[in-house]
Amino acid sequence: GQHFLGIEGLPEDQIEILLDRAENYALLNRSRKTPRNLLRERTLITLFFENSTRTRTSFELAGKRLGADVINMSVSTSSVSKGETLLDTAYTLNAMRADLLVIRHAQSGAPALLAQKVDASVINAGDGTHEHPTQALLDALTIRRHFGKLTGLTVAICGDIAHSRVARSNIILLKTMGCNVRVIGPRTLLPSTIAKMGATPYYSMDEGVKNVDVIMMLRLQRERMSAGLIPSTREYFRFFGLDRRRLNLAKSNALVMHPGPLNRGIEIDSHVADDPHQSVIQEQVEMGVAVRMAVLEKFSHIKAQP
Ligand code: CP
Repeated sequence: GQHFLGIEGLPEDQIEILLDRAENYALLNRSRKTPRNLLRERTLITLFFENSTRTRTSFELAGKRLGADVINMSVSTSSVSKGETLLDTAYTLNAMRADLLVIRHAQSGAPALLAQKVDASVINAGDGTHEHPTQALLDALTIRRHFGKLTGLTVAICGDIAHSRVARSNIILLKTMGCNVRVIGPRTLLPSTIAKMGATPYYSMDEGVKNVDVIMMLRLQRERMSAGLIPSTREYFRFFGLDRRRLNLAKSNALVMHPGPLNRGIEIDSHVADDPHQSVIQEQVEMGVAVRMAVLEKFSHIKAQP
């Protein structure tokens, strides 16, 4: 099959087409008029080796709204707990003739490995610190809905850049679409490789958010840090947390974004996260379903319908 493993290598016009299709699905979702025959007789299996609320649920909803048979493999109750490997699990699902495999795994490159071994189209739902491509698409769609374009906007991505597949996918996508991208964080969480990706590093939050159009906050991924290197949460919020004063340094209509899950009071103040005018966190979740519908449509080799 044709796989969706990352934003890297996806040209601008392909991104634009996916965003347009997703915008169309966002409207159909609101009017409850989704094409339930589109993925009829297709089987979608979600395989999450790491926990998820948004991504797994929205892939399931996306599949169901297009009429696919959706199976959620519960990894913790599967035979993985008896020592079955990732590849043997994949061969087993392949023998059941799944058409689409949506996988999340702690190891970067796990979806790419799977893609070489199965007939199904493999869709990356987040692999280690590598990529989370559907997240970058839903973020881009949310931004585009508010500004009508992406080109020329300045986006600040803040926090634990080092461990963030969301940051990597977003930097690649936003640079491809002509945005100015800043990354803000403590030196320990801001790898030098970021400069090669074309994002400008800032080690001061006040400096980094000045005059930006979008502030994208990230969670501290403690599960990917060694115990001695986890910052104290009080210190972290003081230096890198987003509060009202810092938000006011950005443009007056700046958007506040967060991929979720939120750790309130650690990277973001609750009032800012819930701000009715500037926070678009719930809209990001809504666009997540629409984007995943567009991705399932594209990667199940079905011709687009009106
Ligand atoms: N943003 C995101 O990937 O959330 P989940 O981990 O809940 O899927």
